[in-house]
Amino acid sequence: MTQQTRCDTLNIAHRGARSVAPENTIEAARKGLEMGADLWELDVQLSADDELVVIHDDTLERTSNVETAFADREPWNVSDFTLAEIRELDFGSWFNEEDPFGQIEAGVVSAEDRRSYEGIGAPTLREALEWTSRNDWKVNVELKHLGEDVEEENYVERVVGLIQELGMTKDVLISSFNHDYLVRAKAADSTIPTGALVGRGIDDPAGYVRDLGADAYNPSSEAISPSRIPDLREQDVEVYVYTVNEEDELARLVEAGATGIFTDFPQRLARVLDECRHER
Ligand code: G3P
Repeated sequence: MTQQTRCDTLNIAHRGARSVAPENTIEAARKGLEMGADLWELDVQLSADDELVVIHDDTLERTSNVETAFADREPWNVSDFTLAEIRELDFGSWFNEEDPFGQIEAGVVSAEDRRSYEGIGAPTLREALEWTSRNDWKVNVELKHLGEDVEEENYVERVVGLIQELGMTKDVLISSFNHDYLVRAKAADSTIPTGALVGRGIDDPAGYVRDLGADAYNPSSEAISPSRIPDLREQDVEVYVYTVNEEDELARLVEAGATGIFTDFPQRLARVLDECRHER
């Protein structure tokens, strides 16, 4: 049984600290690390030349300047661009222009940080893992569902192979909404923990996770009531809830004994955990 210890919730920075830096970049990861997160989350998918790249959306236009750099390549699917082409893109300036979480306007993001975001690239999975390892940190690797049009024979197995090659099997949690990928990951290496992402609640999460051979249940915050968490933890299921940004909700999940929480504001979760520890 997993010991449920209040206040020991892992502080996960969702796609890095994406409220204060462009998501899925090393800069966002660095911010999460500085803010006291215990690990960060990244999303991985395949480029046209089969490279494992760290990008959230299936298309490039939301988080890069692809619309101007490659105006004639709509719909800008990640899977239609080679790594060399992705390397030409700027994955940082959009954050400064759009301030997606209002943190620039709130004065939380310094001018120096904003300058440092201009022109930054999307890391490959190898670069992101190596950076994580160099910083003696941990990471949640979310395997994006690649879709029927993307040809892949060993996407999952290559991710697992890379984690093994870098000696990071103890530092990575693999998650996915595509639960077949989790079965493949376990078949490739049963020692790497896996978590089943779900957008809607399911009837018997503990049984479901067990049947999958997974270690964790990763529901959206709408898909789970905090009151169900202690029972799942009693049944040896880790529970990582996404994406929670409000302090009162973070506090409820910490109190309920969630294993981890995905948040865009690791600084808020760090504060909640501090308060919890002081009350002990
Ligand atoms: O991994 C938790 C959360 O990040 C899942 O949502 O949108 O990043 O795939 P999304």
